[in-house]
Formats: sequence, C-alpha cells, structure tokens
Amino acid sequence: MEKNNNNILNELQLQTIPRFSLPSNSLLLLPLVIPIFTFIFTSTATTVSAFDYADALTKSLLYFESQRSGRLPYNQRVTWRDNSGLTDGLEQGVDLVGGYYDAGDHVKFGLPMAFTVTMLSWSVIEFRDQIAEAGELEHALEAIKWGTDYFIKAHTSPNVLWAEVGDGDTDHYCWQRPEDMTTSRHAYKIDENNPGSDLAGETAAAMAAASIVFKKTNPHYSHLLLHHAQQLFEFGDKYRGRYDASVGVVKSYYASVSGYMDELLWGAMWLYKATDSDNYLDYVINKSHCFGGIGWAITEFSWDVKYAGLQLMASKLLAEDKHKKHTHILEQYRSKAEYYLCSCLNMNNGSNIDRTPGGLLYIRQWNNMQYVSTAAFLLTVYSDFMVSSNQQLNCHGGTVDHEEILSFAKSQLDYILGSNPMNMSYLVGYGSKYPTRVHHRGASIVSYRENKGFIGCTQGYDNWYSRPEPNPNVLVGALVGGPDCQDNFMDQRDNYMQTEACTYNTAPLVGVFAKMLQLQDQNPSQSLVASY
Ligand SMILES: *[C@@H]1O[C@H](CO)[C@@H](O)[C@H](O)[C@H]1NC(C)=O
Ligand SMILES: *[C@@H]1O[C@H](CO)[C@@H](O)[C@H](O)[C@H]1NC(C)=O
Ligand SMILES: *[C@@H]1O[C@H](CO)[C@@H](O)[C@H](O)[C@H]1NC(C)=O
Repeated sequence: MEKNNNNILNELQLQTIPRFSLPSNSLLLLPLVIPIFTFIFTSTATTVSAFDYADALTKSLLYFESQRSGRLPYNQRVTWRDNSGLTDGLEQGVDLVGGYYDAGDHVKFGLPMAFTVTMLSWSVIEFRDQIAEAGELEHALEAIKWGTDYFIKAHTSPNVLWAEVGDGDTDHYCWQRPEDMTTSRHAYKIDENNPGSDLAGETAAAMAAASIVFKKTNPHYSHLLLHHAQQLFEFGDKYRGRYDASVGVVKSYYASVSGYMDELLWGAMWLYKATDSDNYLDYVINKSHCFGGIGWAITEFSWDVKYAGLQLMASKLLAEDKHKKHTHILEQYRSKAEYYLCSCLNMNNGSNIDRTPGGLLYIRQWNNMQYVSTAAFLLTVYSDFMVSSNQQLNCHGGTVDHEEILSFAKSQLDYILGSNPMNMSYLVGYGSKYPTRVHHRGASIVSYRENKGFIGCTQGYDNWYSRPEPNPNVLVGALVGGPDCQDNFMDQRDNYMQTEACTYNTAPLVGVFAKMLQLQDQNPSQSLVASY
C-alpha cells in the first residue's frame, strides 16, 4: 500500500497515559459523533434487491490469483498475469519465490500477508460447508496454500523468518508490471538479534489456522504447518521485540503500532485451537492482563490490532464445560468482545463507531473498507455463535439477537456490493458499476501476456499511470479503500486512499459472502432484510 502515516494507533501513541491501567471507555479512540438512536438499522431498510453472493464469493477468490508472486501454476485463472519475482531472495541465498503482492505495488510485506492468510483460514474454518456448496472450496484452499507455501520457505530455521521482500520506497519510485519489475528485491529478516514478536506471532497464527483447514484433506501438510507455527510462536515469545525496530524499511508502511502483545496472545489462541494443548490456553489466560487482552477495548480489528478477534475467540470458549475453571478471565475477554460488537451496532454508551450518512461503518479516510470487512466478519461469526450457544448480546442500548447482528453485517456487505449513495460496487468486477481506475500497477498497464514489450520504471508513470482511461485489466474481486465519510468516491488512479485494494480487505469477505449465500439459499423469496 501507499505510505501510510494515518494509522489509528499513531493516535494511540500520542496518549501519555499508561496503556493498560484505564477503564476501557477511556481507551476507545474514536470519538462519538452520531447520537445513539440516529441510525441503528436504517441502512438496511433501503436494501431491497438481493445480491448475487455466489458471484461475489467466486470473484473474491479470483482476486488472490491477481496478487500472486512467483511462478504461476497451469490452472491460473487470472490470465492477464504472468510469472514474476522469480529471483526473490537470491541476493541473500534463500528461495523466497511466491507469496502475495500486498496491494497495488510489489512489495511482499510479511505482517499483512500473514493476517490475510489467517482471515482466509478463519473464513474456511467457520464457513467451510457453505464455501464447498458454492463449489469454491478448492479455490479457497489454493488461496490459503499460496500464502502458507511461502511462509514455509520464509521460515528458514526455528529462529529466522524472512519478513519482507522489496521495500516501499524504491518500489513506489516505479510504476511497472510485476513481470517487468526492475526495483530492488532485497529481502529482510527477523532473528534472535533482530526480533519481531508481532510478525512471528501473526505468522504462527496464520499457519496454525491453516493447519486446521488442511487437517482432514492434507494431514501431512497440516502437520508441517503446525510444526512451523509452534516454532514461530516460541521464537516470537522468547525473543521479544517489535518487528519494525528490526526491519526499518517497513516503518512508513506497516509499522506495528499496537506492538506485539496482541499477536502473541492471538498466536497462542490459534495454536490452542489447532492443538487443544492447555499450554497455549494457559498463555492466553495467564497473560490476559499484562498483555492487554482484557484491558483493551478497541473498535478496530485489522492487520495491526488483533484484540477484538482474540476477545471474540476467547468468548466462544465460555460455551465449553472444559473451560469452566477459566470463567473469570474468559468473561473479561467476552466483555471486551461485546464492547467491540456493540460499538459496531451503535449500541454502546457513548463510544460507537461512526457511520456515513449511507450507513457504512467509518473509521478513517484511508482504506476504510478494511475495517468494514473485518467488522462484518466478526459480527457474522458472533451471530452464528449466538445461535449455537443460545445467547443474546447485551449492549448498553439494549439486548440484541443474532438476527439483528446478521442483518447489520448484511447491510455492510450490501453497501459494499452497490447498495449505497454512489450506486457503486466497491468489489471490483461485481455488478454493473465498479471502480475502473484501481490504484494497481499490474491492472493499470497492458497485460504482459498481450504485449511483452518492456515497460520501464518511469515509463509506466508517463504512459499508463497518468492516463484518464479505465485500467486495461479488471482486478476482479478486489475490495478498494472505498468512499469518504460522506459516501463520496472518486474513481481516480492517483486517489490511492480510496481506489487501492489490499489482500486483507477481501480475505474476511470470503467467509461473509459464503454465510450470506447460505441464508439466501435457505430463504430465496425473502431477503433477511425484508423480515425487518
Ligand atoms: C499459567 O499459570 C499457571 C498457574 O499459575 C501455571 O501453572 C502455568 O505454568 C502458567 N502457564 C503459562 C504458559 O505461563
Ligand atoms: C453512560 O455514560 C454517561 C456519560 O459518560 C455516564 O454518566 C453514565 O453513567 C453511563 N451509563 C451507564 C449505564 O454506564
Ligand atoms: C442511484 O440510484 C438511485 C435509484 O435508482 C438514483 O435515484 C440516484 O440518482 C443514483 N445515484 C447516483 C449517484 O447515480
């Protein structure tokens, strides 16, 4: 992604207060703007037409093929792409070919890539049957494996993990197709002397979650992933530090502003899910307080800040008898999870997530959609949990049932797909109107398969970036940054805050599309919204 100095937690750092000693309300960073009663479910009321979630699901998985780095397989479906990055790691004597380009550029950033794979895996873990029924399970597994194959390569010994290939500054100097890349492919690593507990923790989470996904269909691979995940977690826990202190080039792009404690708890939680071993659960319980697991109430769930996802997973443990002895701590996790969910629903006392007039959750102007897609995911997962555990959600503004939560998640999804004041689908390639000038090097330049004539570093800016015409290649399934706080969107290539897409925007949608598809299939004549 473009250089980002607009991260939420930059705001956090400005606070001079001790991090974990305050009541949760004081830690909420987003000021209340909309009175509680203004919009609760109004945006859903205008959503009448049913969307084609099966089509959206199919397209969302295609996007990951567009972002592939390395040697493309025979069954590659996105045919405007070709092989690229074939010497990644060579300079350092390590094979780092493969993995995903992060966004509209060609850096392989480890932290957001790992979060992408965690969210793809979580999508499959929760909604496997629905994805399979839609005929998309193979594609979902391929999307995960493209990432985990790379993580296996990048984890060259127990305490060494390659963190990044390429760097934002030199990459952004050029506008080229990945197939023509002439920029630096220098690789950066973390190790015992250059720790990165956040990166190690998130990569452990991704590999542990993926090991659950592959457990039945590919047990050998699943076991391998788990082995890497356990080593990575141990490495991250033993050698503590933020990865951006060790890999300086990542600072202006993916600085780990929330620190590494969230990723260590999150990694331990996923390892507990993957192994059922009490050691990992004890870690989540014992460190709940000092690592902020039960102290932070945050209304953002993202590649940087994992607390809300962790808290939601911990809440679900309460439903099982075997966790009874941890009820006291798990309840505290749950209260923070509920705080997140209620703030999405605009039902907290004071501290709610802002919304656009059109009803979209709004956190900040730069790539806001990433927070919408993670919120829709957590709400959907929690709604399913409420059904299976026969619970309700108690917010300050009242008690909410699972249908209301799902209905709100659907309103966000439908906004993404076109039910919005611009009548624009922010999922590229979906519907009749979608962004055509996505800030993406490969998509904005003639396909390498059509024209192999070399396009140089600045030539791309002159001849392709500055063209007013739509991109020659449609980046199908990409979720762009989306509209501003007034629902306005400008479809311009240089408007990267709104028109750039990132892999972690789309990943959570895979699960949410599958869930909405299932609802539609169960109830074809009446959309969920119509029942309100
Ligand atoms: C957690 O605390 C319990 C009880 O104090 C202790 O037995 C256990 O070893 C601790 N586990 C970890 C992973 O710190
Ligand atoms: C809600 O917030 C107001 C203002 O901060 C506070 O005075 C009031 O006690 C809160 N109510 C509850 C039930 O927490
Ligand atoms: C969106 O569609 C509605 C209903 O068809 C129409 O009234 C409105 O003008 C459209 N808005 C834009 C920005 O195209």
